[in-house]
Amino acid sequence: MLILGIETSCDETSVALVANGQKVLEHIVSSQIKLHSRFSGIVPEIASRAHLESINLMLEDVLRKKYYRNKIDAVAVTHEPGLIGSILIGLITAEVISYVLNLPLIKVNHLEGHIFSSFIGSKLPSFPFISLVVSGGHTDLTLVKGFGRYEIIGRTRDDACGEAYDKVARVLGFGYPGGPIIDALYKKSNPDEFPLPRIVMPESFDFSFSGLKTAVLYKMRELAGSKKEKPKNVPLFVRKNIAASFQKSAVNILVKKVLRAAKVYNVNSIVLGGGVSANEHLRNELINESKSKNIELFLPEKKYCTDNAAMIASVAYYKWKYT
Ligand code: KG4
Ligand code: ZN
Repeated sequence: MLILGIETSCDETSVALVANGQKVLEHIVSSQIKLHSRFSGIVPEIASRAHLESINLMLEDVLRKKYYRNKIDAVAVTHEPGLIGSILIGLITAEVISYVLNLPLIKVNHLEGHIFSSFIGSKLPSFPFISLVVSGGHTDLTLVKGFGRYEIIGRTRDDACGEAYDKVARVLGFGYPGGPIIDALYKKSNPDEFPLPRIVMPESFDFSFSGLKTAVLYKMRELAGSKKEKPKNVPLFVRKNIAASFQKSAVNILVKKVLRAAKVYNVNSIVLGGGVSANEHLRNELINESKSKNIELFLPEKKYCTDNAAMIASVAYYKWKYT
């Protein structure tokens, strides 16, 4: 079954063609980072306009190859959650294609896409497993019992982890998006020079990142000797060390919680997804910890961590087949 996937829920426009949930035949992503970076965050109106400009060109690009014509069996699209104006561009596009070509339309929850993104191109895991989706909008710990059978056991009570990365990078004067920038400088920095608090909430599977983010803000004000954060007043190596300390704390919280969830729910597999799952330090820590605890760990390929249509087309196939 060949599925055309469309993803426009946030700031990436993406189109993919995936066969039987596994074989990615075409996959393109148009990132809007350049458009949003001067605002240090996503501007919803700019995002939806950019989706509108790109989507038809990208569809033409993917569908220009003759051998795909008349071969597509269904159209899949992200219909929630996300920026409403952005979602509408993808959704209306998919509805029109489905109507004109008389193809079934499979609406996919964006988070379901992230949950199963580790299994594009590989066999499915056995259920149940613990999923950790860490992105710019979510930090969700879910017990996955099967397709469409999800029990959310923990979420963030304030900022999503990726959102905290982006805000901390802005306070430190490093630009947008913060995650990849902080990830890249981690190895060459000292995460122990400015220890930051870890809000673990051991009684719960919920997360909180706003205290950690605020601790960075106060540290920067203290070091700049100002009531406002002035990154240029603080030497670059100091800012890098603060960023590394933030990452060490954030990753430690994520790793602790996901491992405890596996233990409490007596589950032997952990599956990662979402933009932050591209993070090298997080991946390495989880690889080491899961090895020592004999837990099976599934990590998405880097290209499927951030938003993409391949994960939408892939999970649509399984939804179609199993639910
Ligand atoms: O999944 P995603 O593309 O969009 C949402 O659904 O939100 O995630 C975007 C988030 C951003 O906050 C970005 O800073 C973060 O993922 N991110 C990373 C890395 N790459 C992207 N965070 C940490 N380390 C990375 N390497
Ligand atoms: Zn996402």
